[in-house]
Amino acid sequence: MEQYIIRGGQPLAGEVVINGAKNAALGIVAAAVMTDEPVIIENLPDVWDINVLLDAIEDAGAVVERTDRHTVCIKGTLNTCLIDNENMRRMRGSYYLLGALLGRKKQAYVPLPGGCNIGSRPIEQHIKGFSALGAQVEISHGMINATAESLHGSHIYFDLVSVGATINVMLGAVLAEGQTIIENCAREPHIVDVANFLNSMGANIKGAGTDVIRIKGVESLHGSNYSIIPDQIEAGTFMLAAAATRGDVVIKNVIPKHLEAISAKLIEIGIDVEEEDDMVRVNAQNRPGYTQVKTQAYPGFPTDMQPQMTTLLSLGTGTSIVTETIFENRFKYVDELRKMGADIKVEGNSAVIRGVEGLTGATISTPDLRAGAALVIAGLVAEGTTVVEGVEYIERGYEQFEVKLRGLGARIEKTQINTERKVVKKKKQATTKAK
Ligand code: EPU
Repeated sequence: MEQYIIRGGQPLAGEVVINGAKNAALGIVAAAVMTDEPVIIENLPDVWDINVLLDAIEDAGAVVERTDRHTVCIKGTLNTCLIDNENMRRMRGSYYLLGALLGRKKQAYVPLPGGCNIGSRPIEQHIKGFSALGAQVEISHGMINATAESLHGSHIYFDLVSVGATINVMLGAVLAEGQTIIENCAREPHIVDVANFLNSMGANIKGAGTDVIRIKGVESLHGSNYSIIPDQIEAGTFMLAAAATRGDVVIKNVIPKHLEAISAKLIEIGIDVEEEDDMVRVNAQNRPGYTQVKTQAYPGFPTDMQPQMTTLLSLGTGTSIVTETIFENRFKYVDELRKMGADIKVEGNSAVIRGVEGLTGATISTPDLRAGAALVIAGLVAEGTTVVEGVEYIERGYEQFEVKLRGLGARIEKTQINTERKVVKKKKQATTKAK
């Protein structure tokens, strides 16, 4: 197990280059197995979630060749519809293989998705969509089994807006017979990216990025060469890290349009944001102000930026309120921020944040991916040394996070946690309790 050791107080400065979008890549890698022909994917992030998905499709018979760190060639020569890679149970994106395999082979046997523990995360909308396309779906022993004699187009109305269900049902429908109309879809940039990728393979999808997607089923898909969009959340995380440390950072390889909800909040609290074609510059000379933030589906403020925003606002000049409307369990990191001197009270699904002048270093533990990034930001700001445990969560979605931060002047190192010492400490505690 690894940890970050951060000596805070250094404003970030310089340039950082953003990698491809993890949540688009999950859908795109799954979609790549919908043809035997070679698919070349560029700008693929080298992060844990993606590498586990690549291992899983390789185990199922696909040929996966990484031609460089961010390019992979996949041949979807599958010999099974059973995905039983242990790590797949620990990630969310595993469920995209359900749509991809069902669509192509009319059969999929995939572990129930895991992923960050940020709420209950049911998948009944995915199942509703697959059933409407003609599949039978059963869940037993932690696995989802979906089968169909054939798939046919359908008219599906989601009861709620779901990124995962939108992508999954799109995957299931591209090879179905006839037309599928999906209403109340999510509109996130990665949905558009997965649709564009499928279209580059010969699919016929229209309307991705709006709340109605129309898909005309095609007979088969073919090979493609595709470059994934930049990661909106990685970019947003560096924007907020720059703002929190009162730094001046140019964030390159971004699509500024995808960052508008984040930029607008930064500008509202007095931070300079400049946009150009494929970069944003965040320049913060003063403490942030205060505001109200409510997480919403795109184009609203992303839930995946909520912990980073709460951390930034903990340094504000007044009282802010952050309301989480997507996941019910996404404030678990707040206790850790309190250890660092933040003044935050969670009431229901809102955090009431009374801004403080500064934070102080502490040993803290990250409960999930985005919370981990937020705690690192807190460590970069804090006076003294912060130890962030749970680096493995952060590495699920951020490539070379500490290396990129060091490139901006941060004093951050990754080290092994001395587990022996921890065991001894636990044993000592147990003996004391027994006494
Ligand atoms: N929901 C249901 N039933 C469903 C599907 C969703 O009740 O069948 C609920 C969820 O419980 C949640 C809301 O609908 O309350 C939205 O969930 P959604 O399906 O949109 O989320 P997801 O597909 O599970 C993806 C990202 C998350 C990101 C959310 C929201 C992936 C692999 N995960 O999750 O990313 O927070 O969309 O934008 O794409 C992350 O990257 O750190 C991360 C958690």
